[in-house]
Amino acid sequence: MTQQVSQSGLKQQVGRAALDYVEAGQIIGVGTGSTVNCFIDALATIKARVRGAVSSSEASTARLKALGIPVFDCAEIDALSVYIDGADEIDPHGCMIKGGGAALTREKIVAAHAARFICIADESKRVEVLGRFPLPVEVIPMAARYVARRFAAGVCGTRGDAILRLRDGKPLITDNGQHILDVRGLHIADPLTFEREVSQWPGVVTVGVFALQKAAVCLLGTQGGVRTLSF
Ligand code: A5P
Repeated sequence: MTQQVSQSGLKQQVGRAALDYVEAGQIIGVGTGSTVNCFIDALATIKARVRGAVSSSEASTARLKALGIPVFDCAEIDALSVYIDGADEIDPHGCMIKGGGAALTREKIVAAHAARFICIADESKRVEVLGRFPLPVEVIPMAARYVARRFAAGVCGTRGDAILRLRDGKPLITDNGQHILDVRGLHIADPLTFEREVSQWPGVVTVGVFALQKAAVCLLGTQGGVRTLSF
């Protein structure tokens, strides 16, 4: 009888597999989350081969530095060859929902610098249509109720129920000093149009749909091993 690999075991597998996309002498774009933490740990084993990293969150920066990997400021970098990050959901075209860790704005900025987005995820993240995972939207606090009303009214043929994300009973404050709405009940059939539309609403800092910066490759951790999906 073969033993099931745990979800954390799958995350470790894809974290290690992502090392194949790390080119010698490069600065690597690094995302945020438990899967990326596995990648950072793997990266530390070959740290002498890379120049360093650009990070998408205070949490990843702290982990990179603790493991002796130099962290560069994104504002000092013109371009990156790869950005390696997890996802909350990924569809058959490589479009994703991200932001479960509240780092979506910096993730989108670092991803925009990279020639290729390499998504690392366990198989539970693979969906046919985005929206089962509550969509994170970073908003300027004074716009939160307005943005919630827009989702309730409907966008791109779907509507959702937006809830302010709390931590310890108070609104969560992002690394950028803003709030997060989590929007439930959406069915995002056309992620590109949806991302373009919601990004224009006043007070929206970043919507957690990554269609403009979709994955080029997904390393998907499955019970049968790591599958490489190219988009
Ligand atoms: C962080 O804001 C997110 O975009 C993460 O990439 C996403 O939530 C995946 O996280 P895990 O790897 O912890 O599942």
